[in-house]
Amino acid sequence: MCSIIAYKGYRDAAPLIVRGLSMMEYRGYDSVGLATVHNSRLVVRKGVGNVGHVNARLNLDGMYGSVGIGHTRWATHGVVNDINAHPHVSCDGRVAVVHNGIVENHVELRSMLTTRGHIFRSETDSEVIAHLLEYLPTPVVYDGNSISKALLDLTSMLSGSYSFVALVHDGTLVGARNHEPLIIGLGNPRKGRDGMLFADECFIASDVLAFIGHTDKAVFLADGEAFIVREAQKGLSIEVYDRHGKVAKDVTQVAWEFADIDKGRFAHYTIKEIHEQRDTISRAFSIEGSRVHEVVRTLLASRRIVVTGSGSSYHAALMAKHLLSRICMVGCDVVVASEFLYSMDTHYVDDDSNCDHGVGPVLLAVSQSGETADVLDAVRMARSKGFRILSLVNSPLSTLARESDLFLSINAGPEIGVAATKSFTAQVALLYRICMEMAKAMGRSTMEIDIGNPSMHVGSILEGEEHIASTAERIKDASSVYIIAKGIHHVIALEGALKLKELAYVHAEAIHAGELKHGPLALIDGKSVVIALNPMDQTYRDMLTSVHEVKSRGAYIIGISDAESSLYDTILAIPGVEPLLYPLYEVIPLQLLAYHMALKRDCNPDYPRNLAKSVTVK
Ligand code: G6P
Repeated sequence: MCSIIAYKGYRDAAPLIVRGLSMMEYRGYDSVGLATVHNSRLVVRKGVGNVGHVNARLNLDGMYGSVGIGHTRWATHGVVNDINAHPHVSCDGRVAVVHNGIVENHVELRSMLTTRGHIFRSETDSEVIAHLLEYLPTPVVYDGNSISKALLDLTSMLSGSYSFVALVHDGTLVGARNHEPLIIGLGNPRKGRDGMLFADECFIASDVLAFIGHTDKAVFLADGEAFIVREAQKGLSIEVYDRHGKVAKDVTQVAWEFADIDKGRFAHYTIKEIHEQRDTISRAFSIEGSRVHEVVRTLLASRRIVVTGSGSSYHAALMAKHLLSRICMVGCDVVVASEFLYSMDTHYVDDDSNCDHGVGPVLLAVSQSGETADVLDAVRMARSKGFRILSLVNSPLSTLARESDLFLSINAGPEIGVAATKSFTAQVALLYRICMEMAKAMGRSTMEIDIGNPSMHVGSILEGEEHIASTAERIKDASSVYIIAKGIHHVIALEGALKLKELAYVHAEAIHAGELKHGPLALIDGKSVVIALNPMDQTYRDMLTSVHEVKSRGAYIIGISDAESSLYDTILAIPGVEPLLYPLYEVIPLQLLAYHMALKRDCNPDYPRNLAKSVTVK
């Protein structure tokens, strides 16, 4: 997705903005741009490439001025080129805008503005905002006193999801949000007698990661709110408005977890985050009890459970189905968030809230970011049909957390690599915990499981990294990788295939091993690479039959298993873990394999092409 950051204060804006943009590069990185005000004039530099490249080419962080805006683009409307990069500037050059989201009525607005003489330079939907700011009856650029009215007039004209920040040539920053994140970080915030908010410096960004190195005090804007940051006698004043007038906002202390945002000794965030699973799995298992119990009570009392998510979080949702069934003997439906709209008929439970003992239907939404548009849409739709909303998120300050009746944080710390790794295992660990607590509450004491020492289990898988890297070297030229598995392990196969696609750009497919003979076997020949997820459990024997089938067609076989077999050309070993918990660890060799294949194939594992970490558009 696009990322926005703005700065106004007493320091040089450009270096802070460039650093903030690199921290948010996980969201998208087709092109980059900055605008600052210097000597009362707007200066804009922008171009195609990632933050490092564009900065090196255009010397972005050498731009003058103590106020500025910056943007990384993830193209939706208009090709990737220098002109379509943000900021976009009004015809009179007095206001520059950066935008994240989609202005759905941009075609109508563009034609209205064109007939009134505005000249558009880019193909983007975003540029209409710059022209509207100039066109409005009380234009922001000319009339400082009516800024709030102008802003609200503007937002009433825009439809769709957006967050934007505009830099006016007098150094004022204005903006608004609707279904896209926008957070104001404040340096030395304080309140005046009338409740007015002041600060020494302000950061306005799509993600707290952009400014957490400078301040942990923040104001979270709600949908429909607009803000103005300008010079005042007591420093900078921060005013927030909605359509009813001025809104008094609280300053939030942003959680400590966000501070851990360096690569440390690792070459990439992705590998750092894979290694962090030594701690994150244990942390997720040991989330504070009372909130988990409340989730358990709600799930037990509900008439129907539907679980949703996107990408890796969807795979965690699929794990939830297996775990609820295996550990608690409770059924649930799983719907991928982007399909929720089309399957609502099946999941709509008419007036279920009147049932005797229950809380009606429950939607459990799983999301690392808590900002995925498809997930938020599913949640809003489910709520409108009477569902209670529970969620598992990594960001407790996210929109999903705020829109849920109850949320649990997976507590994995910031995940910067675009491909989910530690957040997936933390989601799954927390789902195990929930299911174990549910089983206990249901009197199924036979399902009490010793979680053992997750850190040790992860550690011994990581010890095999060198061997996994040489396996990656062996298969790096494969055009397809097939991952065969049975039962719950098929979900891990799906997640492993997703990692290979995202990180190494290799076609990878998860196959139910028993389905090989119903079609996929036709693809297998001497050039095929097959990964067999083959734990020593009830799937073992049948899996061996399938491994024989692919072996006899000449495939190169990688076994991921806790038991040796002469059928494997190589084995990625899983040390002895509690069988029920085994799938949680089984994904780690696949993450490592995908990471090392990415390196061997010259792909940047942290920022896969065409992908963004937080997909806040539909
Ligand atoms: C994007 C990311 C995936 C992620 C998915 C869901 O597609 O690239 O890694 O799994 O969004 O994100 P969420 O934040 O909702 O878990």
